[in-house]
Amino acid sequence: MKILLTGGAGYIGSHVLVCCLQAGHDVCVLDNFSNSSPEAITRVEALCERKVHVERGDIRDIALLRRILSEGGFDAVLHFAGVKAVGESVAKPLKYYDINVAGSITLAQAMQEAGVYRLVFSSTAAVYGDQSAMPLTETSALGQAASPYGRSKRMVEQVFEDLQMSDPRFGIAILRYFNPVGAHPSGRIGEDPRGEPANLVPYAMQVAVGQREVLSVFGDDYPTSDGTGVRDYIHIMDLAQGHLAALDYLVSTSEYRVWNLGTGRGHSVKEVINCLNEVTGKVLPLRIVERRPGDTAQCWADPSKAVADLDWHATRGLHDMLADHWRWQQQNPDGYGKR
Ligand code: WQD
Repeated sequence: MKILLTGGAGYIGSHVLVCCLQAGHDVCVLDNFSNSSPEAITRVEALCERKVHVERGDIRDIALLRRILSEGGFDAVLHFAGVKAVGESVAKPLKYYDINVAGSITLAQAMQEAGVYRLVFSSTAAVYGDQSAMPLTETSALGQAASPYGRSKRMVEQVFEDLQMSDPRFGIAILRYFNPVGAHPSGRIGEDPRGEPANLVPYAMQVAVGQREVLSVFGDDYPTSDGTGVRDYIHIMDLAQGHLAALDYLVSTSEYRVWNLGTGRGHSVKEVINCLNEVTGKVLPLRIVERRPGDTAQCWADPSKAVADLDWHATRGLHDMLADHWRWQQQNPDGYGKR
């Protein structure tokens, strides 16, 4: 297939790019490199021994999208381009609605004009909001997402659902990610957060390599087995392969469909830290601090719909995720280098 991959230089996009190239697809990456590095693409090219066509630009640029898509022959769009920092989204909601929502609308307009009707969208478990009943299924009632980031993703889901209802030529897969962790097993590509990492594993990794002093554990008084927050961590390669499964599904059907991509298992912050100590052979310095505003006690997926419909399931466990993430972190302590 010929695929347009928006945000293909980012953490998730670059791993999906590897899977697409290895499956023999012909891929064009569109990225504005606002939070990613062209080096990620260079490394993917080396890993896969294939060249990738790259367009530098913004998904809000309709003229650019028209030009790219009018070159013709695209079978599908995998849409990752967006902003994803939960804390920043509270301070700058307009940025999040502009890039994530308006950008996705512009992309869908250009697709419709060009007659490209297959779309896989990068959504998040954040759309479920604060829920107490676990695991989360795709039909769990959606609470109010805790941040403009989560709400922006939910809005895009709704836009795409309405679009598909109005134009049944569209086949749209919404993938709700749980907590992606890990890296390609080669250690050549991985997550490269800019500034202070907001997420548990990238932060802990920087403590493990000595770039930061201590890991703050946000609360140990949650109603969970050991008092710390529980999440469904999923290996980035499992997550990436889920996109190819969704794409295959859209080959034979034009529908709007939603799938959770998670492992179905929750791990507490303390479990993650213990496993990381094992993987790194170090003992991470910790301090217990207040709960982080907006955090929920627990969140894990029921992934059985993806298993049934897509014949996809996560095969890698927490140890694999952390070992692969650690390899990337050790080999690339400064990520992809200066941007
Ligand atoms: C995991 C657990 C924290 C950092 C967020 C977004 C979600 C998705 C992934 C997508 C929680 C605890 C964390 C730290 C800690 N975003 N923690 N110390 O909050 O589940 O999900 O990232 O792009 O939409 O909401 O992930 O990794 O931040 O936190 O104790 O320094 O680790 O409280 O229990 P989260 P996370």
